Amino acid sequence: MLELKNIIKDYTIWEILLQRALCWVDLTINNGDFIAIMGPSGSGKSTLMNIIGLLDIPTSWDYILDGKKLENLTENEKAQIRWQKIWFVFQWYNLIARKPIIEQVMLPLAYQWVPLEERMERATEALKKVGLIEKLYSKPNELSGGQQQRVAIARAIVTNPSLILADEPTGALDSKTGEEVLDIFTKLNDDGKTIVLITHSAEIAEYAKHSIHIKDGLIEKKQENKRKEIKKEKKSE
Ligand SMILES: Nc1ncnc2c1ncn2[C@@H]1O[C@H](COP(=O)(O)OP(=O)(O)O)[C@@H](O)[C@H]1O
Ligand SMILES: [Mg+2]
Repeated sequence: MLELKNIIKDYTIWEILLQRALCWVDLTINNGDFIAIMGPSGSGKSTLMNIIGLLDIPTSWDYILDGKKLENLTENEKAQIRWQKIWFVFQWYNLIARKPIIEQVMLPLAYQWVPLEERMERATEALKKVGLIEKLYSKPNELSGGQQQRVAIARAIVTNPSLILADEPTGALDSKTGEEVLDIFTKLNDDGKTIVLITHSAEIAEYAKHSIHIKDGLIEKKQENKRKEIKKEKKSE
């Protein structure tokens, strides 16, 4: 699906090198993958995620999505890929404070000119998938942290992207609530979504099929994981 080769990312100011955040990083993401990107704070994880999602452009690289080289695409075409192919989930849920959650989940569809009725149907369906069917008209401040993150996940899946990028999505949650969120990612992956999960925790990385360890902007190793089973008896409510 997505091939990134020879990524170098330098943060500079007035052409003075501040930090080489990524150094010759190669990454292939196949359809149906569930990859954890692991590493200590400052190792370059978020930089890499922003590059995968085209939020940031590296100093040099090759980026090939579905066999197409991106280097010659316009900003407009890149934005389209972002809107249709890829969605993000962040540590802080980035919800709008006073809006009912169904409206927040409908919003990405409005950018795609989906008609109102279909927006409502698809947002309801997405919120059902993350176990929030009873909270459609609640506002973020009426929800727990875990529930808010599930709204962010519903908002991420409502456009039906093929790739979901999650940067420390459980970083603000206690471990039990975090597990519930990770179980949702596991289910989404079982349903065919490709997921890249960024974490500094080895335990969380075990939810992914394989892990990539990054340190000081370099890929240290790649490994297969023995995966955590979803605890069937656990309710996501
Ligand atoms: N906008 C920026 N300007 C300068 N340096 C940055 C910027 N963003 C990140 N860095 C540096 O790049 C390195 C990697 O950062 P980051 O990708 O955020 O790491 P992680 O997500 O693994 O904690 C760090 O040393 C960080 O200080
Ligand atoms: Mg980070």
